[in-house]
Amino acid sequence: MLFAITRLVSRSIANCELTHLERIPIDLERARQQQHVYEATLRGLGVEVHSLPEEPDLPDSVFVEDTAIVLDECALITRPGASSRQPETESIAQALAPYRKLYPIQAPGTLDGGDVLTVGKTIFVGLSSRSNQAAIDQMEVFLASYGYIVKGVQVNGCLHLKSAVTQVRANTLLVNPAWLDRGYFPGMQFIEVDPSEPYAANALLVGEALIYQPSFPKTQRRLEAAGIRPILVDESELGKAEGALTCCALLFNVL
Ligand code: GLY
Repeated sequence: MLFAITRLVSRSIANCELTHLERIPIDLERARQQQHVYEATLRGLGVEVHSLPEEPDLPDSVFVEDTAIVLDECALITRPGASSRQPETESIAQALAPYRKLYPIQAPGTLDGGDVLTVGKTIFVGLSSRSNQAAIDQMEVFLASYGYIVKGVQVNGCLHLKSAVTQVRANTLLVNPAWLDRGYFPGMQFIEVDPSEPYAANALLVGEALIYQPSFPKTQRRLEAAGIRPILVDESELGKAEGALTCCALLFNVL
């Protein structure tokens, strides 16, 4: 069974971290409504959604993806690269403890889950402003006995690895080649975002279904031309907080 941890959008979302975007007003009620539709969509796909209570003093806490890497065998509790976000991990560790053995990333390592793309037994980690080589070194130690290979990927111009690339089918990645080198992913097929839609590479694969933003119609047509019919879910209000679809859930199998 697929399980998802999500969280109510914080009332302090207007104070979120921003790296590549200008700050513009965020409508809290609209953001919460969109998050509600996102959770309902997951439920409609058969996912059991556990929505955590609001963290009023942690502006970015709706972006639960950044706080943990949940694999079938264990989970890593991250150490987010923005210090304002580091307290977010405490309640996530509590929520995950019944399901997985936990390994915490420790200083000087920093890691955001948005920088982690797992494809089979290979874990790609974005070397970004949030995640560093020290975290990769710890991941290699934690995960070697489970058979995972961890590979660093240089990303430029965007917040996270999964701003630039996500998996949209078993062997296919949706990618913005302006932000990373496709050569990091040998053997994979690629669909490129439309150059006029640089933020369009973030899609959420749930089993065989793909959740996608309606804000990127040209890239959506490219997905459809490849035979992928996405389910559209608008998370544009959280996009103003530099969030995207994958950021808003921790998805994992309950074995
Ligand atoms: N606002 C999302 C982040 O910067 O982590």
